This record gives sequence, C-alpha cells and structure tokens, in this order.
Amino acid sequence: MRVKVHEDKVLEMKRILLIIGGGIAAYKCLELIRRLRERGITVRAVMTAAAQQFVTPLSVGTLTNEPVLTDLFDLNAEREIGHIRLSREADLIVVAPATADLLARMAGGHANDLATAILLATAKPVLAAPAMNPRMWSHPATRRNVELLAGDGIGFIGPNTGEMAESGEAGSGRMAEPHEILEAIERFYATESSLGPAGLPGLLPRQLNGPLRGRHVLITAGPTHEPIDPVRYIANRSSGTQGYAIAVAARNLGAEVTLVSGPVNLPDPLGVSVIRVETAQEMQTAVTASLPADIAIFAAAVADWRVDGASNQKIKKNKGKKAIPALKLVENPDILKTVAKMKPGRRPPLVIGFAAETESVIAYAKKKLKAKGCDWLVANDVSPATGIMGGARNTVHIIQGETVDSWPEMDKCEVAGRLLEQAAAHLNAISACT
Ligand SMILES: Cc1cc2nc3c(=O)[nH]c(=O)nc-3n(C[C@H](O)[C@H](O)[C@H](O)COP(=O)(O)O)c2cc1C
Repeated sequence: MRVKVHEDKVLEMKRILLIIGGGIAAYKCLELIRRLRERGITVRAVMTAAAQQFVTPLSVGTLTNEPVLTDLFDLNAEREIGHIRLSREADLIVVAPATADLLARMAGGHANDLATAILLATAKPVLAAPAMNPRMWSHPATRRNVELLAGDGIGFIGPNTGEMAESGEAGSGRMAEPHEILEAIERFYATESSLGPAGLPGLLPRQLNGPLRGRHVLITAGPTHEPIDPVRYIANRSSGTQGYAIAVAARNLGAEVTLVSGPVNLPDPLGVSVIRVETAQEMQTAVTASLPADIAIFAAAVADWRVDGASNQKIKKNKGKKAIPALKLVENPDILKTVAKMKPGRRPPLVIGFAAETESVIAYAKKKLKAKGCDWLVANDVSPATGIMGGARNTVHIIQGETVDSWPEMDKCEVAGRLLEQAAAHLNAISACT
C-alpha cells in the first residue's frame, strides 16, 4: 500500500520505533501509523505477543512498509537488525497502547520480551500512551509505576477521560487519540533541537507550545456532599467525568491546571494540581485560594443548599416514636456568581459556567448566564433519559449573550477538547486587544 506523503516535509528523515502493547486500543495504532507516514516519518513497529491478539502484524507491516518485529529470540531478525540497533536507529520510541502490564514491566526494569528488552536497552526518549480500564489506571500499583516511569524521564500522553471500548464503562484510561499522539510527537520534534532529548519529560503531558502555555486554568468538578450528620449527607448524581475531561484538555493545551474536585471515583489526572473537597463551602474556599486564574470553568454540580446546623453526632432513630427529623436547609455560597462578579484584576478574564437542567434547557441557561454574570454558559440536559449525568457522552449548548451554539452529541472528552480550544482562542484574542 502506498501512503500519501504530507506536503510539509519537516518531519521527513525522522524515525520512530512504535511499540504496540496488547490492549483494545491497539487498533488506533493503525491510524497513528498512517498519520505519521503521511508526514514522512519512518515507522518501525514492534508488537508484543498480546498486541498480536488485537491487530495483525500483516496490517501493521503493510502500513509501516517495514518488517514488523515480534520476537526477542528471532535469530534472523537479531542478525539483520538486532534489538539494540533498533532503538539506536530511532529518534523517539512511542509505546501505544501502553498496557498496565507493559508499564509495570517497564517500571520493574524487565527485559523478558522484545518490547521490554528494547525499552531497557535504549537511551532514546520514550513517549507512552497508556490505555486501560479506569480501575486499572487508578489502581495504586499503576499509579506507582507511572510515577516511577515519569521520574525516570518517560513522557506520557493521556490517558483521556471518556467512554471506554467496554460498553457502559467510562472514566480515565482511554488512550489519547492518534491526532493527539501525533501532535505530541510534532511538539517533541519542534522543541527537540532547543531542548535536546531531555526535553521530553518536560514536554509531556503538558504541551510546551500549546495555546494555553503560561496560563492558569481553574476548574471545578463533581458533586458536593452536604452533611446531615457525620455519616449521612445530601449529594447529587454528578460523576465529575466532564470536569476531569476539561482538566485533561486544559493540561494538554499547555495550561497550569488546578482542579477543585468534589467527591468522585476518578484518579487525579497526571500533571494537574487537584484539591479534593467535600462541601460547597470548602469548594468556595479552595476556589478563592486558587485565584488568580486566566480561565475559570465551573463544571461542578454544587449543592444549592446545605443542612442548617448539621449534627456533630449521628442522629439516632427513636424507635417507637414518630420522631422523624426535619431538615432545615440554608443556601450555599454561589461560587460561579461570586467569581464572575469579582472586580477586574481579580476576576478571571474568561469565566465559564455549566447549567444542568431537566427542562427548557436553553431558556433557563440564558437566564442563568445573565444572573451569574459569567461570559459563557455550557448548558446540558441532565434528565435521567439522557444518561448524561454519570455517563460518558454529552450534548451541550454553548451560550454567549443571545448566541446559542448547539453541538452534536459527543464524548465528554471531545466536548472538553473543543471547549478548551475555543476558550484558548478567545483568551488569546482578548489578550491581543489589551
Ligand atoms: C479483550 C482484552 C482487552 C484488554 N485490554 C487491555 C487494555 O486496554 N489495557 C491493558 O492494560 N490491558 C488490557 N488487556 C490485558 C492485556 O492484554 C494483558 O495484560 C497482556 O498481558 C498485556 O501484554 P503486553 O503488555 O505485553 O502487551 C486486555 C485483555 C483482553 C483479553
């Protein structure tokens, strides 16, 4: 098969060694190889034994137009090229998908197959694109391995937050998209000459040259828990998925990101400063303490009310009596409004709110935009039938003044990427005017 060579020849003569691990996301490597080759990059592929269960060496070899290497003990391959030479000839080694097991073997310094032998023997920069089930990604063992590898100078791209290949699964663990890996590679080559190979760890996961470089983006995510007593609380169904995806997207565009998160079952995204809180009041304090920011995005589903005078002791159920406690609610601080109405200088130049509605979504959202004083409002319909709350997909309407831009249904990760790209463009445009 012939692959069209991209007109931009800057990347010609570059050589990438692509190590494909055994995960569902291996199929995305075929697209990655095509895109790399379109840019004139030579790609040599090594596949683990597990990877060959997901995509065939024939497909990979056809797209790379190079022999695919699979076996550490293949005498012919070893005689002709040798695993040490393989890594020496590459400018960059990309591991995609980097499975939990492959990361563990890399962190442990194993060399029991061709992929790990190369990774242990190389002095070349390595970029890993992890892909796994969210529970595997958040497992303490994987967290430890990633920390160790990051400390060793391995660069990471992703994983993204969003829908997983397994039906009904969502969270952090989805492999970065081929175009995102390609962008990371292009950034690597763009900065390589000035930074040298040591530039890679600093380059990722944050884009050194991204449109949000040098900007601070403050994001809130998840629900809040408002205590009734030490064991009971009032909560809502927010999973935090959209807010976490926004934090990752902001980080990927080069921003310094602070994520103030209510209680959620999501791991801290790499390269993001996470402040965990429980209540709306704690969230308000954390947000205020995290200012100044260039962009503030309030994606958290903050409880409107809290229990007045929550009990310090567990409230007892009085057997035999009809003493059902009455909960008196009081209003919580309005974090979005407080920040949106701050004086210029203290107020972030771009304040974005979220509106979760179950009816008259756009009409309510327009009212909310005016009442809160924010710049943009992202409105979504969270009625149970939509499956948005806690789900992986979202249908949003971006409201700016009287203008409504309705986006088609998409993965929360794509919503995040698009929103942040627009926010970055807006911020850079207003900065250019001042
Ligand atoms: C259907 C299926 C899908 C899998 N997907 C993943 C995955 O996405 N990420 C992962 O870390 N492991 C996944 N695994 C487990 C790996 O294939 C397994 O840990 C294997 O040993 C990894 O080998 P490798 O790291 O040498 O490629 C999957 C296994 C099966 C059977």
